[in-house]
Amino acid sequence: MMKARLIGTGSFVPKKILTNYDLEKMVETSDSWISTRTGIRQRRVAVEDSTSEMAAKAAKAALKAAGVSPKEIDLIIVGTVTPDMTFPSSACFVQSHLGVKSGAAAFDVSAACSGFLYALDIANKYIKSGSVQKALVIGADRFSRLVDWKDRSTCVLFGDGAGAVVLSAEKGNRGVLSSRIHSDGRHWEMLYADSPCPPSPFEKKGSGNHYLKMNGNETFKLAVRTMGSAIKEVMEETGLKPEDISLLIPHQANLRIINAARDRLKLAEEKVFTNLDKYGNTSAGSIPIALDEAVREGKVKDNDIILFVSFGGGLTWASAAVRW
Ligand SMILES: CC(C)(COP(=O)(O)OP(=O)(O)OC[C@H]1O[C@@H](n2cnc3c(N)ncnc32)[C@H](O)[C@@H]1OP(=O)(O)O)[C@@H](O)C(=O)NCCC(=O)NCCS
Repeated sequence: MMKARLIGTGSFVPKKILTNYDLEKMVETSDSWISTRTGIRQRRVAVEDSTSEMAAKAAKAALKAAGVSPKEIDLIIVGTVTPDMTFPSSACFVQSHLGVKSGAAAFDVSAACSGFLYALDIANKYIKSGSVQKALVIGADRFSRLVDWKDRSTCVLFGDGAGAVVLSAEKGNRGVLSSRIHSDGRHWEMLYADSPCPPSPFEKKGSGNHYLKMNGNETFKLAVRTMGSAIKEVMEETGLKPEDISLLIPHQANLRIINAARDRLKLAEEKVFTNLDKYGNTSAGSIPIALDEAVREGKVKDNDIILFVSFGGGLTWASAAVRW
């Protein structure tokens, strides 16, 4: 059976940096509160780039790294909850920005911070079924549009950015070994953003403001639990032991959540990649941006076993194991 091999990575973050010190001037907070509670020191915010433009820039870099032409792409999936427009999808915009052939399939997946791993799971299944040869899998979000910049309990956490991988159908043992996606809609109120559309004149219940709302403490506890179980799930399925893992690339939401998951797995610190100090939580962008940085820093070598794990609004959670 064909495997989906990850043959190129790319990422893009906007130029504008917003440090914790900048936030001190906007809300009642401090660099020490933010960095000790979350590990975040700065984040990027998009001034000009839309979600699909960030996605296209990340995808262009991934195509270049893979040595693949946009004309070879059969499928584009973008994990995002901040599309440029309600429709068309960000993936259709990416297709247009990159000149991917007419007739390829392109769609978005809404799974908040798990968007990239959801997209990877779907693309993997298309490739394994034999109907797709090459796919672009992208995670991109522009949360600076969603957060209330007057709400210190949420605005310090998020940033903008996009990451992408090119998947190729290949024989052999390299590629996606296992991939799992999950959700529990009962917990939707932990983390959500209402519709940005105005209510219709027929609606009884008008939507409130559309800013992101979060129950931080409960989200924290669920995140630690679900990340731990999601990692165990793919390890059990593949028979991997902690010593087999070359690198764990978790969703970059909070260093304390990542450390708790690492402790549960008894993984050494150097086996867990983090870059949230620079970017904060970029939602669906977080894992592919981190993967691209790890690749470019030479931390990922042929045949390494890489684990990914995420959680996010929905609640959604997901994990994947890959042989590089
Ligand atoms: C948000 C989060 C960092 C808060 O950390 P915490 O240790 O749980 O802090 P609490 O919410 O208990 O707040 C403690 C105090 O800090 C205050 N506080 C909240 N945000 C603050 C800020 N930015 N600066 C200063 N003080 C702040 C609170 O008002 C509270 O004050 P009080 O004790 O006087 O009521 C943490 O809960 C978290 O990371 N949760 C998960 C969020 C997440 O990952 N979301 C994305 C999911 S994909």
